Amino acid sequence: MQTSKVKPGELTTEGEPTHNNVIRSGEIVCQEVTKHFPENSRPAVDHVSFKVAAGDLVVLLGPSGCGKTTLLKMINRLYEPDQGQIWIGKEDIQTLPVNQLRRQIGYAIQQVGLFPHMTIWRNIAIVPRLLGWDEEKINMRCNLLLELVGLSPTYLGRYPRQLSGGEQQRVGLARALAADPQILLMDEPFAAVDAINRERLQSELLIIHRKLHKTILFVTHDVEEAFRLADKIIILKDGQLIQYGTPVEIVVKPENEFVAELVGSNNLLRKLSLFDVQSLLEAKQYERHNSFSKASFTSIQPQENLRTALSMLLESGAEQLHVVDNKGKSHGVITFQDLHRLLFEQFTSPAAELE
Ligand SMILES: Nc1ncnc2c1ncn2[C@@H]1O[C@H](COP(=O)(O)OP(=O)(O)O)[C@@H](O)[C@H]1O
Ligand SMILES: [Mg+2]
Repeated sequence: MQTSKVKPGELTTEGEPTHNNVIRSGEIVCQEVTKHFPENSRPAVDHVSFKVAAGDLVVLLGPSGCGKTTLLKMINRLYEPDQGQIWIGKEDIQTLPVNQLRRQIGYAIQQVGLFPHMTIWRNIAIVPRLLGWDEEKINMRCNLLLELVGLSPTYLGRYPRQLSGGEQQRVGLARALAADPQILLMDEPFAAVDAINRERLQSELLIIHRKLHKTILFVTHDVEEAFRLADKIIILKDGQLIQYGTPVEIVVKPENEFVAELVGSNNLLRKLSLFDVQSLLEAKQYERHNSFSKASFTSIQPQENLRTALSMLLESGAEQLHVVDNKGKSHGVITFQDLHRLLFEQFTSPAAELE
């Protein structure tokens, strides 16, 4: 049984024999993409253009009915656009056979969609089997993937009904990653999971993203979720792209009143609540200003949000907070001035763009 930590190299199929129509790039480009369902008065997706760099985690954020699902489904050709073009790398997706395209794009949805009469192993193995992988390779892959999503390999013999909602979502993610796609499309995958498990799944998705560098296009209507996950956020309203930027850019320079209201730009506390201590430290590290003074005793964990940091500064009367993780490791300090600089964009580079 696999017990060691999964290494990125173990989870890619690079170096394997390639065949025609294999997507080698994780870049997604949409140009003037439009979809109008005949029964509706306005287009569900209306001349939307954007480019997602390979390896980025981009969140499509907007209220219900704004066209997020329709846009996502056009990327794996569950829907065809009326107008516009979509490329993955240099390939116009219209030129690829639809089945081959879909097998190379992982897709995870809120309803998970596991087949109830199939074991977890069989559910994960669907695409690898279609691709003709041998049993041994599929077994290795299933073990690695379950470890990656935080489930014991003993789950492979179970049926979906024997798993909780959160566990089923983990299997859904493992299945989406099964054939090592460059691209993952995720449509509100955690929306039906309880708050505690949702946060866990979000953290694990971030870890997986850091390990595997897949391009992830993640749909949500939940602003907090968007800010927790995103390298960049695309804001949609009534089928139109309103703004595309890093979380800091969106909060500091909202395109219009709709965006400002959505992310609460007029409310400083709300703004602070959207960023965690870690993202602020990363911005500071980038500037090499992260000197640590032994005078600070009040400590905070890196994953706490900046609103909590502000109230701890106010309550303790300390000038700085010592950032310490749950293993007691020191990550630096943050001050009032740092919070002020984040809100008013005086860091050299937005925190969210830094690695
Ligand atoms: N298959 C469909 N047929 C007709 N109208 C649809 C269909 N799918 C979505 N729509 C409509 O398109 C709009 C966008 O829907 P959708 O993309 O599902 O939004 P979101 O995912 O942002 O909630 C809505 O007005 C919805 O009613
Ligand atoms: Mg939707």
